[in-house]
Amino acid sequence: MLVHLPHVLTADELARAQAALQAADWTDGRATAGPQAASVKRNQQLPAGHPATAALQALVLGALDRHALFFSAALPKRVLPPAFNRYAGAANHYGNHVDQAVRHIASGPQAGQRVRSDLSCTLFLSDPASYDGGELVIDGDFQPPRIKLAAGDAILYPATSVHRVEPVTRGARLASFFWIESLVRCTAQRRLLFDMDTALQRLRQRDGESAEAVALTGTYHNLLRLWADT
Ligand code: NI
Repeated sequence: MLVHLPHVLTADELARAQAALQAADWTDGRATAGPQAASVKRNQQLPAGHPATAALQALVLGALDRHALFFSAALPKRVLPPAFNRYAGAANHYGNHVDQAVRHIASGPQAGQRVRSDLSCTLFLSDPASYDGGELVIDGDFQPPRIKLAAGDAILYPATSVHRVEPVTRGARLASFFWIESLVRCTAQRRLLFDMDTALQRLRQRDGESAEAVALTGTYHNLLRLWADT
């Protein structure tokens, strides 16, 4: 399941993130990749210890916290500290790879913890008209989607997928990327809850708090109680 999250960042937050990243010093993205991924990874990343990193991470996490669609689709238990990358020049692509199943948090207040990556998320930070290429391509379907979103929008996708970032042939593609451990590990169960929550919200918009909406909300929460691992 792919979920497009529109307007994760406000215009002001986006401008602040872009300004900080445009002034940043970048390092080789292979530093944080496993051996398979490192062999196909050609991009740049913001080092975890960079002076801008902590404020940018707080900005992204704060934005996710208020995004109802993110919560409904991901049912987040823990979110890895967001990282930031840049595709441009010779460091302009990331070939087919699968993200590591378990990520180790190296620094910050959660240092030492291990987080299972159920979902991957890419938050686009560059205006798509400012660069060519750079589509996120997620394998698995007959015609794999080629994703290039407005700056400030994000895509949520299964961390189990083989995916790549196509070469950027003009300009620079800035993004934030991070993984989510979900309260609901099973993709099929998470999908059922998301579909039910989406339908319930529409029912409520149409009819208000009807007795049926209240009853189905109870069923939603009872399923979540059954399946959630807190
Ligand atoms: Ni990846």
